[in-house]
Amino acid sequence: MRGGLIELASTGMWVPEKVLTNADLERMVDTTDEWITERTGIKERRIAGDDMTAVEMGYRAGKAAVADAGLEPADVDAIIVSTATPDRLLPATACDIQARLEARDAVAFDVWGACSGWLYAINIGSGLILSEQAETVLCVATEKMSAIVDWTDRATCVLFGDAAGATVLRRSGGNGHGILSTYMRSDGTLAELLYRSPLDSGSVPVDVAELAVRDGYLRMAGREVFKNAVRSMCEAVDAVLEKAGVTKDEIDLLVPHQANIRIIEATARYAGLSMDRVWVNVDRYGNTSSATIPVALHEAREAGRIEEGSLVLMVTFGAGLTWAGMLIRW
Ligand code: UT7
Repeated sequence: MRGGLIELASTGMWVPEKVLTNADLERMVDTTDEWITERTGIKERRIAGDDMTAVEMGYRAGKAAVADAGLEPADVDAIIVSTATPDRLLPATACDIQARLEARDAVAFDVWGACSGWLYAINIGSGLILSEQAETVLCVATEKMSAIVDWTDRATCVLFGDAAGATVLRRSGGNGHGILSTYMRSDGTLAELLYRSPLDSGSVPVDVAELAVRDGYLRMAGREVFKNAVRSMCEAVDAVLEKAGVTKDEIDLLVPHQANIRIIEATARYAGLSMDRVWVNVDRYGNTSSATIPVALHEAREAGRIEEGSLVLMVTFGAGLTWAGMLIRW
């Protein structure tokens, strides 16, 4: 197998300390630990306090990833941030993180890919390196989902949590390491299945009916998203394996988007992988949108489940709808 041109040189993550358990949610909305556990696999999630911003979370994860790569923030040429929960709409969250990092010589901008945003960011960052516009790119996902869920809506508020994760990209050192194949898709005709209502900030809603409700909260047709999630993640599995000329049995670890254990299990079944070859942390963090994969990747490395030479498959889906896959040799 041919090696990749770009590698993920490091990982970093940050999660808030505050834990919100299913028992806590039983006291907030009409739900039960049994329902949440059976339908989603989630037992608890982390919640950032009012004084913690998406910028600060992303800064902490980004700083950790820069250090893990043996670099200083000043070495970073580009900062690409994925977030569905910016603290403010202008400037880009990436610019605020750049200022916190004091990465003065970098260009910084955001991508809006919802849960697929971090893999999108890596693809854009790889392009910057390959076109010789950057040598070192920091890709951050930071998501304060607790700020955009409606805490009175039991169908969504039990699902999400807050987290940030990051990686540094650079040219691969060779020896077959790096990104072997990638796949990105979206289908805007399915946007109404999962979206944030417009904010009351002068933004123009796509749907006039939305004028009545401008709370910025997340809305979701759960069952429809579920079906599309399984279909699109399986499509991404096939696409990246075919592009790389790799078979399913060669995969060492599947690191899927962590939205629901049933979606993860269905994807693993399709990929022919037993669950001991899948990294799962949805039980501890819930769905942290685009932060799920970098956080899972970091934890899997820390646990020794990803080592030099490991073949790692990442697949994701989210609002848009968007979906993506990436195969890397660590
Ligand atoms: O990153 C992408 C983000 N989105 C997702 O990944 C979501 C994908 N979808 C899902 O994970 C699942 O569809 C859910 C977990 C959201 C829902 O599970 P489901 O098995 O599809 O349940 P459902 O929506 O069909 O609802 C079944 C029942 C309903 O009651 P009735 O109509 O059967 O009486 C709901 O009202 O469960 C009820 N329900 C709840 N009951 C207790 C919905 N939420 C809750 C809750 N506690 N929190």
